[in-house]
Amino acid sequence: MLAVEMRHITKRFPGVLADDDVSFDVRQGEIHALMGENGAGKSVLMSILSGLYRPDSGEILVDGRPVKFASPLDAIGAGIGMVFQSFKLFPSLTVAENVVFREEPTRHGLYDKRAAAAIVTQIAERYGLAVDPAAVTGSLPVGVLQRVEIIKALYRKAKVLILDEPTAVLTPQETDRLFEVLRSLQADGHTIILITHKMREVMAISERVTVLRDGRVVARLNTAETTGEEITRLMTGRDIDLEQSPPKSAPGAPVLEVSGLTCRQAGQKPAVDNVSLTVRAGEIVGIAGVAGNGQSELAEAIAGLRAADAGTVRIAGTDVTAGSVKVRRAAGLSYIPEDRHAVGTAPDADVASNLAMGHHRRPPLLQHGLLKRARLADFAQRLVDRFGIKVAGTGVLARTLSGGNLQKIVVARELDYASPLLIAEQPTRGVDIGAIAAIHKEIADYRDGGGGVLLISAELSEILSLSGRILVMFEGRIVADLEAAATNEAELGLLMAGGELAGAGKEAQS
Ligand SMILES: Nc1ncnc2c1ncn2[C@@H]1O[C@H](COP(=O)(O)OP(=O)(O)OP(=O)(O)O)[C@@H](O)[C@H]1O
Ligand SMILES: [Mg+2]
Repeated sequence: MLAVEMRHITKRFPGVLADDDVSFDVRQGEIHALMGENGAGKSVLMSILSGLYRPDSGEILVDGRPVKFASPLDAIGAGIGMVFQSFKLFPSLTVAENVVFREEPTRHGLYDKRAAAAIVTQIAERYGLAVDPAAVTGSLPVGVLQRVEIIKALYRKAKVLILDEPTAVLTPQETDRLFEVLRSLQADGHTIILITHKMREVMAISERVTVLRDGRVVARLNTAETTGEEITRLMTGRDIDLEQSPPKSAPGAPVLEVSGLTCRQAGQKPAVDNVSLTVRAGEIVGIAGVAGNGQSELAEAIAGLRAADAGTVRIAGTDVTAGSVKVRRAAGLSYIPEDRHAVGTAPDADVASNLAMGHHRRPPLLQHGLLKRARLADFAQRLVDRFGIKVAGTGVLARTLSGGNLQKIVVARELDYASPLLIAEQPTRGVDIGAIAAIHKEIADYRDGGGGVLLISAELSEILSLSGRILVMFEGRIVADLEAAATNEAELGLLMAGGELAGAGKEAQS
């Protein structure tokens, strides 16, 4: 029995055929993975199924009956709920208020706060979705917000749950927990559609896989009968090797010197606690840590986005401790921030402007004080080609790009600076496997060109394959300083959890 059937769905945007005659079906009670490169049409297809977009042609059947959705409300009425990558919750409302929004339980005609809390608690306990109904949503970490979105869909009686890259923002531990939730939903008769770029997740949890390529279905597979290599080949048309070559030369002069850096936070332990580290020209230093142990705050403090309470920062020999972001950039900083939406891009500007951001003031784009439009277009096109960014043209607005292509814009722009220091935070979040390999190669080339890189990533495999040295961060402090070649995921995992290595017992000096 099919829970959902999409037949011959086509959807065009100006200059883009996002989905081209796509037929897609999901069986009742299965976990179905939807895969494909950045821009392949996954999010658009699922936005059609969830009532957000209307297809140009094609039909949708739910439980064998034809349906037409004019809005997400129609879709949820038919039992289809979607958890988007950027959450749609109200930050000033509590968890319970967000869950029951517009379908509030009432008592004597008034909002029944206790009933709302009870509803949330009941759904949460049934599926292992730990949340506090009374917490104000704006202060919650992404992993919890995601659970709230799931509870909200379940409260609206979603039988089919669509999750668009839910694990991109989760730690490995949170991913494991989410998968337990998905399995218990499945055991309870729910159907799940999962969009992800992570092959091991597909292999671990899905029954079937549909692969999209350039808006077309290229394969429908039983997970047990395929391999990651086969899916990769179907998605990209080639084999992808994520192995990295070691550095070509020994590290040179320091490009980043951080000493005693501390960022306090009211009423809590310092987010960054007396951190000292050095990154040299021609080396990649990785920072491993469970999210929330100060890595992001450290990057922000080095980049000048967060005030430090103590300590010094030198970039390429210049003391920038008191300097703004602009001063630090001028001293030689390139920065790929974790949050590409809030910090990394301007959604209402076009692709060319986003690629040139920060380059504007330099030749060749600027001549006699004027920005050269034609040069801007050339410059942007060159980066689009080099990084394989899928866009209809460099004049389209950034907001219309697929998630992974937006990420590539930030990476391309920052790697194109010939600066001595790059801070790369989650550089491959949300990008497809081919693009991961390409970005890794660009980062390694940057290193071999004499740049120093501070790499912060939730992906241990990424840290291990790129870094020469690895620092482990725990509760705001650097607790270990290791040669990448002499350690492994298990050892790092232990240190990240605050454990000690057998026979070590002493604090790393760093
Ligand atoms: N609102 C829109 N206006 C114009 N073009 C759009 C819009 N939404 C999506 N597109 C385009 O449709 C194509 C498919 O996008 P979609 O978001 O479905 O990709 P995706 O497979 O989800 O990729 P990713 O893995 O990067 O998230 C892309 O070329 C994208 O730029
Ligand atoms: Mg997408």
